[in-house]
Amino acid sequence: MSTTEVKTSAQQVEKSKHAERRPDPCVVVIFGASGDLTKRKLLPALYHLEQQDLLPEEFVVVGVARRDLSQTFAPDMKDGIIKGGGVEENEPKLAKFIERVKYFQTNFDDDAGYEKLKSFLADLDKQYGTEGNRLFYLAVAPEYFADITQRLGNHGMAQPADGSKSWVRVIIEKPFGTDLESAKKLNNEINAVLHEDQIFRIDHYLGKETVQNILVFRFGNGIFEPVWNRNYIDSVQITAAESIGIEGRGPFYEQAGALRDVLQNHVMEVLSFVAMEPPDSFESAAVRVEKLKVWKAIEPIPVTDTARGQYGPGKVDGQDVIGYRQEDRVNPESQTETYAAMKLEIENWRWAGVPFYIRASKRLERRVTEVNIIFKQPPLHIFKGGHDDCDNIEPNVLTLRIQPDDGIKLQIGAKIPGPTTNVAQVTMDFSYAEVFGKSSANGYERLLLDAMLGDGTLFAERQGVEATWALMTPILEAWAKEKKSFPNYAAGSWGPKEADELLARDGRKWRVS
Ligand code: BG6
Repeated sequence: MSTTEVKTSAQQVEKSKHAERRPDPCVVVIFGASGDLTKRKLLPALYHLEQQDLLPEEFVVVGVARRDLSQTFAPDMKDGIIKGGGVEENEPKLAKFIERVKYFQTNFDDDAGYEKLKSFLADLDKQYGTEGNRLFYLAVAPEYFADITQRLGNHGMAQPADGSKSWVRVIIEKPFGTDLESAKKLNNEINAVLHEDQIFRIDHYLGKETVQNILVFRFGNGIFEPVWNRNYIDSVQITAAESIGIEGRGPFYEQAGALRDVLQNHVMEVLSFVAMEPPDSFESAAVRVEKLKVWKAIEPIPVTDTARGQYGPGKVDGQDVIGYRQEDRVNPESQTETYAAMKLEIENWRWAGVPFYIRASKRLERRVTEVNIIFKQPPLHIFKGGHDDCDNIEPNVLTLRIQPDDGIKLQIGAKIPGPTTNVAQVTMDFSYAEVFGKSSANGYERLLLDAMLGDGTLFAERQGVEATWALMTPILEAWAKEKKSFPNYAAGSWGPKEADELLARDGRKWRVS
């Protein structure tokens, strides 16, 4: 099949699936709507769904925040959709969509405000036929997650007003807790108001096409599973490297650091997709059970199997950039890590003895998020040391590139043409953009749609969140006790020496394709 044929057949499949994927009439209520996320990601994502006829006819978005934005909210969102989504200003669908973008001003701790919100939403039901279905999105600072949920409960908005006919669901942004204890507390507080199947803990990595494709790659093909285990795989690496710094989020990042911000959630989610057993089906419960088994099988991580760093001044993309401690609203003696790496051992029959090296970092040389599966070498190097002395033999490496340039790559050895036997490393490549065209989806699109449909497969659940925190909390505690001499890597480099040493002592090195 040519690329165009693949594309057309993919589009046809998508089209026929659309009818099945259209949610019930509903109102999406975004708390914290004055924040960046709403304008840059959520509204563009919702509008993309509208463009594809994936939103119900009876649909309204309500932004809720403290400031009085009643006059500016809708035009501001329109601006975000145009800029962020590559959308033309005069698209007819856009005008219709923006007409259904509303704003409601209240303080998050104002009980009278919740009562007014409740009747505001009831009026929208009457006007737009949204039938009492609510998707609340808590895009607020984490300290408000429990409080807002409790107040929704106190004011009769956490459960459907009419018993079983309509639904109420709540999406909760990350970070979900800052360690095991706080995550458990938050889970208890939220579960006291909502049933687990009403809660959608979002991790936008799970909305990324390439992360979902890990499952399709593994379980939609017959040829990979037989080699996807300790008999053939030497080690696995997951890299989430960013070249950006903390982007003005000093106060947030000071409390978070690379481990809490990215490793505990995004990277551990990717790891579970790479390492899980085939689920019985692609149903939410079946997938979640298998992910949980992976996290539970990970051995406690000794602090000696971890490395961390903080960037100092350097050069990124040819531009001078400041160090972390010089960033706005960052402690000049900060001990917060902007680089976190560790080695994990999954103690089950599939993976025993196969190390998983994972890392997440700000201000590395370039942005790349990928999984590298490094295969074992052939048992005998028959091309090595002979009269041609061919020593350029490398392991096969399968790269699942999540971003940018999403795709899949297999590194193999091939004979260099000529009268001698020399081996060169070549790659077989599949690029998403080349085959399917560039996707404008930002991850939130799929997740918002799934939440409206009540499908929790791509969301974190209680036990999973607690399992990953159980692994990471002892490391955070150990790190907190030991003062590091930061900065220990230059912005624009590939991170601290101790992270390289973590692999070097096992005879390995970090790889990026
Ligand atoms: C967010 C983190 O969850 O993920 C950010 O808070 C990080 O610090 C971002 O930059 C990375 O997401 P993406 O989609 O750009 O890889």
